[in-house]
Amino acid sequence: MSATATTSTSANSGGPTKKQKKGGGYQTPWVEKYRPKTLDDVVGNEETLVRLRAIAKDGNVPNLILSGPPGTGKTTSVHALARELLGDAYKNGVLELNASDARGIDVVRNRIKSFAMNKVTLPPGRHKIIILDEADSMTGAAQQALRRTMEIYSKTTRFCLACNISTKIIEAIQSRAAILRYSRLTNEQVLSCLIKVAAAEKVSYTNDGLEALLFTAEGDMRHALNNFQACTSRGGVVNQSTVFLVCDQPHPKILGEIIAACQQGNTGPAVRQMKDLWKTGYAASDIIGTLFKVTKSSKDLPEALKLEYLREIGFTHMRVIDGCNTLLQLLGLIGRLCQIAAVDQNNKESQ
Ligand SMILES: Nc1ncnc2c1ncn2[C@@H]1O[C@H](COP(=O)(O)OP(=O)(O)OP(=O)(O)O)[C@@H](O)[C@H]1O
Ligand SMILES: [Mg+2]
Repeated sequence: MSATATTSTSANSGGPTKKQKKGGGYQTPWVEKYRPKTLDDVVGNEETLVRLRAIAKDGNVPNLILSGPPGTGKTTSVHALARELLGDAYKNGVLELNASDARGIDVVRNRIKSFAMNKVTLPPGRHKIIILDEADSMTGAAQQALRRTMEIYSKTTRFCLACNISTKIIEAIQSRAAILRYSRLTNEQVLSCLIKVAAAEKVSYTNDGLEALLFTAEGDMRHALNNFQACTSRGGVVNQSTVFLVCDQPHPKILGEIIAACQQGNTGPAVRQMKDLWKTGYAASDIIGTLFKVTKSSKDLPEALKLEYLREIGFTHMRVIDGCNTLLQLLGLIGRLCQIAAVDQNNKESQ
């Protein structure tokens, strides 16, 4: 009897239980677990993906630059392309260097050159692939060193560069490569992915919870998946309040109420709510960023007024970024928004 008790205690205090291994504490990040393996699984940016699929099919790879905002599938696509082109030879036929590797001029001279010279058995007609991820963080000198290397080894090797800002790649490299552009994913595209993941992970959610995830992610799939996973680690249903709590963003509902109060000329309540929000500790840039998004997606504001509001919020955003990140700036903005609404009302009445 006592022996059983001891065994069960030691089982509990020992390594992770099966449940722990599978669930809490040991979870693989969903962004890795659900990273698409093939080009067909990558969603959005259809035109770019059609080109990549065509390249994967006929095997005629030019040097490539994939450029676009974070979390839209550039790294994923380039690995999927390499996998489809090289099949089993993917492991030996691909060299990946990202921003976490040293990529100074020496690496370009030595590592890239020795990989390019290596003999690797590849499927017929295929090339070795060098993936330079986050290439916009490579130094100018390293990029210069790459120019000639790209040409010298063009018989055996192709370069795929992924970056956020294509203008940070020197023109000489841009002219040696085909540039494929990625844009932010639409809410529908992110949503389709979130629903699939939720079904696979058996997560319960509410519609406003998913809407909140889309609102915070702004077309960045990585952001959406990470936030979703963070919300589920609290347990229970993923709803709007969980999302805004986990993402630590000002609640759009409050900012929506502030905008509505400004529209109706209720300066007092709008100022009070803004002061309350400020007291909770949000930075001026967080508040103004969410205010902009809420105004942009508002269905209640007439179009002309919305545009004027966005312009005014934009100017305040600029001042906040310049360093005037005080409550006074935000309250000044409220004053101006109320004034714009009053002028708009007067104009309507005089017509
Ligand atoms: N278009 C997409 N379709 C499906 N999943 C995606 C897509 N884009 C991103 N993801 C998900 O987000 C994760 C990160 O994507 P990825 O690494 O390709 O982003 P990236 O465009 O390279 O971003 P960065 O510019 O920050 O490097 C992937 O693991 C995947 O789970
Ligand atoms: Mg990437």
